[in-house]
Amino acid sequence: MASKVYCRVFQAVMKLGNCFMGYRTPELVTAGPGSIKELPAIIRRKGVDNVLLVTDGGLVNLGVPDGLIKAMETEGLRYTVFSDIQPNPTDLNVEAGLRSYKENNCQGIIAFGGGSPMDCAKGIAARLARPNKTVPQLQGILKVHKKIVPFWAVPTTAGTGSETTVAAVITEASTHHKASINDPSILPKYAVLDPELTKGLPPFITATTGMDALCHAVEAYTNHTYNTKVEDTMAKDAVKLIHDWLYKAYLDGNDLEAREKMQYAAFYAGRAFTRGCVGYVHAVGHTLGGLYGVAHGLAMSVILPHVMKQFGPAVYDRLSDLADVCGMEGKDNKEKAEKFIEWLDDMKKKTGLPAGFDIIKQEDYDQIYRWADAESNPLYPVPVIWQREDFYKLLDTLRTAQ
Ligand SMILES: NC(=O)c1ccc[n+]([C@@H]2O[C@H](COP(=O)([O-])OP(=O)(O)OC[C@H]3O[C@@H](n4cnc5c(N)ncnc54)[C@H](O)[C@@H]3O)[C@@H](O)[C@H]2O)c1
Ligand SMILES: [Fe+2]
Repeated sequence: MASKVYCRVFQAVMKLGNCFMGYRTPELVTAGPGSIKELPAIIRRKGVDNVLLVTDGGLVNLGVPDGLIKAMETEGLRYTVFSDIQPNPTDLNVEAGLRSYKENNCQGIIAFGGGSPMDCAKGIAARLARPNKTVPQLQGILKVHKKIVPFWAVPTTAGTGSETTVAAVITEASTHHKASINDPSILPKYAVLDPELTKGLPPFITATTGMDALCHAVEAYTNHTYNTKVEDTMAKDAVKLIHDWLYKAYLDGNDLEAREKMQYAAFYAGRAFTRGCVGYVHAVGHTLGGLYGVAHGLAMSVILPHVMKQFGPAVYDRLSDLADVCGMEGKDNKEKAEKFIEWLDDMKKKTGLPAGFDIIKQEDYDQIYRWADAESNPLYPVPVIWQREDFYKLLDTLRTAQ
């Protein structure tokens, strides 16, 4: 357990170090409905003739990559589909993808899907750059630090923002420990935002992945130590877009405008937290993904309001800014912050999500605390630094929330 003073000193040094990091925003090589069909020609123009298409089995069964595959065939771009990836991808998935890449002499990667295939693809790219290190050895900060193979990210959920982040979240299969590779080298250079690809997302996944994007924006904005104006603006823009469009996308999956706005929201929120960092919602949520297989977006949707409530007055000012962005009124910052948290709770109810998680076992508290503490302290510049008892308090709240 790191002391509060140590955490704040580390963060002050990290803030300076951040000035030398290559936080870029990926180039949107093409965007808009149907734009995915243009990608193969763009890839060929980069001199790449053979790619690994990293996606997941569910997407293949639904035919979501079919348009891209047809366009690759028309363009003469050779490809191998690798889709043996589970939600909350594991190091074993990464190793299998790595073998497929090598066996098929690929020259680049298309990461096509939600955060799970995109992160697995980033893991494969990291392993190719650092063949002598395992996934667990690459987890942490700045362990890749080497140029990766040509990489195009194509999100099909509007949530993780992995297409614009430095992170790849991978679970170690043998221990269930879910942790991130964090390195600017795996931040994709190119991305495609085609809202047509997200039209088939069922309402539950639309809601939970959208709440994940919201969580990125809210955690990045309430952290604020590492942020520049860019991250603050992106976080606020993302919150506004999600406030105005997520519920519409949830109610009508074919509302292409809502789908498009949500894609941009996820993109901005991802870019905001890639420098600003996430916080305890993610740190605890990752452990629930690793231990109990809880889907990431669901964990985020459920935990977010509880963490904001537990932070209390420390987040009133920042949350009141977000309330302003959404047009919520209140007599002071406290009241506005409470209105914002009420809206988070309301979104959970309206989209049929639970208030808490009764699957959390008391005997796992120590493990959850250790993993969440190791992920977040001292790296995440959270508004209040938590000790063991604060994590336990959150877990109690989550277990009993109705
Ligand atoms: N790298 C990052 O910066 C970052 C940020 C947040 C979360 N994550 C990680 O991302 C993973 C979660 O990603 P996710 O929330 O996007 O979910 P996911 O990729 O696990 O996908 C969830 C389900 O949705 C399906 N799906 C995806 N797109 C679809 C579409 N267009 N139509 C129909 N079904 C579709 C998938 O097949 C899958 O069954 C977690 O492992 C999480 O930890 C990464
Ligand atoms: Fe997330």
